[in-house]
Amino acid sequence: MGLLAVFLSIVYLFSRASGTPIQYPGPEQGSCNTVDEGYQCFPRTSHLWGQYSPYFSLEEHSTFPLDVPEDCQITFVQALSRHGARYPTASKSEKYAALIAEIQSNVTSFAGKYAFLKSYNYSLGSDDLTAFGEQQMEDSGVKFYHRYSSLTRTVIPFIRASGSDRVVASGEKFIQGYQSAKQHDPQAKPGHEAPVINVVIPESENFNNTLDHSVCTTFEDSELGDTVEAEFTAIFAPSIRQRLEKGLPGVQLSTDDVISLMDLCSFDTVAATGDGTELSPFCDWFTRKEWTQYDYLQSLGKYYGYGAGNPLGPAQGIGFANELIARLTQLPVQDHTSTNHTLDETRATFPLNATLYADFSHDNSMISAFFALGLYNGTKPLSKTSVESITETDGYSAAWSVPFGARAYVEMMQCRAQKEPLVRVLVNDRVVPLHGCAADRLGRCKRDEFIQGLSFARSGGNWGQCFV
Ligand SMILES: *[C@@H]1O[C@H](CO)[C@@H](O)[C@H](O)[C@H]1NC(C)=O
Ligand SMILES: *[C@@H]1O[C@H](CO)[C@@H](O)[C@H](O)[C@H]1NC(C)=O
Ligand SMILES: *[C@@H]1O[C@H](CO)[C@@H](O)[C@H](O)[C@H]1NC(C)=O
Ligand SMILES: *[C@@H]1O[C@H](CO)[C@@H](O)[C@H](O)[C@H]1NC(C)=O
Ligand SMILES: *[C@@H]1O[C@H](CO)[C@@H](O)[C@H](O)[C@H]1NC(C)=O
Ligand SMILES: *[C@@H]1O[C@H](CO)[C@@H](O)[C@H](O)[C@H]1NC(C)=O
Repeated sequence: MGLLAVFLSIVYLFSRASGTPIQYPGPEQGSCNTVDEGYQCFPRTSHLWGQYSPYFSLEEHSTFPLDVPEDCQITFVQALSRHGARYPTASKSEKYAALIAEIQSNVTSFAGKYAFLKSYNYSLGSDDLTAFGEQQMEDSGVKFYHRYSSLTRTVIPFIRASGSDRVVASGEKFIQGYQSAKQHDPQAKPGHEAPVINVVIPESENFNNTLDHSVCTTFEDSELGDTVEAEFTAIFAPSIRQRLEKGLPGVQLSTDDVISLMDLCSFDTVAATGDGTELSPFCDWFTRKEWTQYDYLQSLGKYYGYGAGNPLGPAQGIGFANELIARLTQLPVQDHTSTNHTLDETRATFPLNATLYADFSHDNSMISAFFALGLYNGTKPLSKTSVESITETDGYSAAWSVPFGARAYVEMMQCRAQKEPLVRVLVNDRVVPLHGCAADRLGRCKRDEFIQGLSFARSGGNWGQCFV
């Protein structure tokens, strides 16, 4: 350990001193979709697609600088990542196909911005990553490698994925990007094997999985998120429906159809071209104000479905929070919620001595984890009837927290002036203001105080309510 620390500081000093410009593999320099900034194409709409927005960096919105101070050294990172952009889920894809077919057969004339529908061929797949989504995950691996190069040059991350195909594929693409960045890095320690996905946790209602909710019965039966979404849809979608029906004579839409057509703007964009530089013509049917409403609709769905708006939402993230505490302290997992004791008590499937961890998951479970960590404790209960701005929600929204390819980094660093390690959390490049501990001017808390503040998770919270 002592030797490793010495070696790390040498590598660290060397990397600081050399100042070599970073060379990214991949084609996309100069494009609106880059490793560093994420998806910056058509930001006035694409950053308002809720969880269907492709990841975009929030660095410009971070009140704390992202840089690691000169006198500090990152000693630990836990990444928690959503899968990349995908096709609609199977049930949604069927629903969209049927809707498009009905519109195409009912409409009596196609004109203006609706004209493209005449020859539009709905051919989106289902569930899996799109080519664009694969590229996002490769880029994510490249970005992670470079941000944490003081560790990635010498250490191989320990990686877990939840069991659905798109999540596992996302982990594999991340590894591909990570490894290719390493191969392009002259300072990387030679001879390293590529990382692998060390554990795939099955997704089933009988399997305790901290990366995918499913075992908490009361929670699984709750329809709160859907109800709140339906109510908000009833408020803002009718006027859009009227306009669309005027533009598509002969067609009769429900307000739910309006949301489907808005969904298609994102899905069609991320499916159509590998680089997402062409905006789907569906997007043009809606105004910026309507995208703001749509974005808020998605934020409501996540907040009342998986976040603090649902009495058992944050409880779904307790297992992950307790695993994080175990990793930060190198002590066994203490949890009686959704962790699998067999996996977490076995060092091959849950080592405690790694310094880099990456877990791949879904938007819903990431929302629960963020709320279990209290990351959005500054967010007041969201209004169910009128749009609140990102300032009013204290930085919470679906697009800002769990877009396609979302990534949170929990960083621990050791600083010269301070004996105790410091912890902070970045969500999509925004240093989140921590609650439950006294953060310093760089958004960091002392590790022990950070963990003290996680009393909700350490106590098991209200998990007991799952089975009453
Ligand atoms: C629609 O797209 C599918 C899949 O790309 C293709 O097989 C089919 O021929 C297309 N149909 C039309 C009418 O263009
Ligand atoms: C826990 O994990 C073990 C090892 O993979 C597995 O055999 C068992 O079915 C899992 N149990 C639950 C409840 O998740
Ligand atoms: C299309 O017309 C059929 C038959 O009148 C009707 O049942 C259906 O709701 C219509 N769908 C749309 C999207 O207009
Ligand atoms: C799975 O979780 C339940 C609590 O929900 C717990 O009672 C059980 O021991 C866990 N099983 C394993 C194998 O960890
Ligand atoms: C962690 O401990 C295991 C033995 O328990 C050892 O094989 C492995 O090399 C250690 N890893 C690190 C990064 O120290
Ligand atoms: C966040 O708020 C919840 C609910 O009030 C509380 O139980 C939890 O301890 C808070 N977490 C942090 C880290 O402040």
